[in-house]
Amino acid sequence: MNKTIIVSNRLPIELQFENEKMHIKSSVGGLATGLKSIHSDGNGIWVGWSGITEDELTPVQSQKVDEALDAHKCIRVPLTEYEIENYYHGFSNKALWPLFHYFQAYTEFELEQWDSYKMVNNKFAEIVIKHAEEGDTVWIHDYQLLLLPQLLREQRPDLTIGFFLHIPFPSFELFRTCPWRDELLYGVLGADLIGFHTYDYVRHFLSSTSRLAGLDVHFNEVNYGDRTVKVDFFPMGIDYDRYHSAAIEHAARPEEAKSQLRKSIEQHNSNNMESRLVLSIDRMDYTKGIPNRIKAFEYFLNKYPEFKGKVRLLMLAVPSREKVMQYQHLKRETDELVGRVNGQFATVNWTPIWYFYRSMQFDDLVDLYASSDVAMITPLRDGMNLVAKEYVATRIDGNGVLILSEMAGSAQEMHQALLVNPNNFEQLADSLKTALEMPEQEQAIRLAALQKGVSKHNVETWANAFINSLTEIKSQIAPVFPD
Ligand code: ADP
Ligand code: G6P
Repeated sequence: MNKTIIVSNRLPIELQFENEKMHIKSSVGGLATGLKSIHSDGNGIWVGWSGITEDELTPVQSQKVDEALDAHKCIRVPLTEYEIENYYHGFSNKALWPLFHYFQAYTEFELEQWDSYKMVNNKFAEIVIKHAEEGDTVWIHDYQLLLLPQLLREQRPDLTIGFFLHIPFPSFELFRTCPWRDELLYGVLGADLIGFHTYDYVRHFLSSTSRLAGLDVHFNEVNYGDRTVKVDFFPMGIDYDRYHSAAIEHAARPEEAKSQLRKSIEQHNSNNMESRLVLSIDRMDYTKGIPNRIKAFEYFLNKYPEFKGKVRLLMLAVPSREKVMQYQHLKRETDELVGRVNGQFATVNWTPIWYFYRSMQFDDLVDLYASSDVAMITPLRDGMNLVAKEYVATRIDGNGVLILSEMAGSAQEMHQALLVNPNNFEQLADSLKTALEMPEQEQAIRLAALQKGVSKHNVETWANAFINSLTEIKSQIAPVFPD
């Protein structure tokens, strides 16, 4: 039976050594958390980077890593420190990430990084080819591997190749500024099916395809040589049942079985009957609008002083890409802003912002979602944003309000959220007031509609829709065998 090979830069698990002891933890980020359940249920394998560079590993550790990954149906692409510096921190996260998120001023185009990006994409191709049997399906993910579809196509035309981009595809005017735009475009066009989260990203991609490559585009199909490449949108969902049932199970726990985090929040709430909790959860990334959110919260407290002492913003940010300068600046700016707001407004009984800079276990995340009256998710630009969907899934009592940036892909589906422009502080502050004062009945109506959408369009239906579309394409193509 043919298998599906998932390929992404990062594997769904990350390995670390501490005094010779190996630790396994789940990778954070929409891609890893979203695809994990698909991978664990299926018969396929996952190819990617383990999170440790080759330079850090002794031969014994290397073997341990392989054994651990094998048990999780994962195969690693060994990457050196140089490659991580140039391909990952470099071209992927200093050129493509900012460019595709409209942060042009942050974008660096360095030849050495581009060369490394090409080399590493070739390395991934080699490993996939080694493990792919005739007729297998390969599903490639995200901006770190834009060249991989074509590299595989050239060497293994028997494979069915799907590509999904988890971040926005920018408008032609931005994409055209990349010196290696043609190589990137033709690289992706090696796939049989190219997927995006939203219709707008599809439009942008097709516009670049016809304007830069001069290829024929008919509706959502591109004629490329003797092949037709299908381009479509598949909004990614979450494992709704996992979040929803965890929230139900946590709520039913007796006092002694509750997590420390939940006990502390409940204790705090019972001491401060009027206290309301506003939650924000993100990777610490400049696309997420974290400083804007803090400034908007400060503006809110000044504009509506009646909320002083009654509302707390609980901000959870998971460390991310800390070697890239802009992420270091963002961390410093966030620390300063939190300090400024807390310094300005705190009383002995009230700290306006609770700020955690760390990763959290699934159980704690669920407790945070479930304990919050409002979720404030206001990225400046975001391919999808799964946190918004996770929040909705954990609301089991029919209350809770979602404030969501219209710049997130998820806003295209989540119309019943309070949609905001993250640059408009006035609107952010007013939306927060609206959310905190929203009658229970309205909360329930909005939430029910959101839950209906998020539970129906879950991660499984997303993956099935993509794979079914790919299978359909495969059935229309005459088989081609390698020489
Ligand atoms: P991105 O893919 O840009 O990181 P998403 O919102 O799509 O953004 O996905 C983020 C994922 O990371 C979610 O599944 C969320 O639960 C998880 N996550 C975010 N912050 C944390 C944290 N501090 N600890 C653990 N997981 C987190
Ligand atoms: C986003 C990207 C993923 C990436 C994740 C975490 O979700 O789309 O490709 O894996 O962020 O970022 P990191 O750089 O730590 O892998």
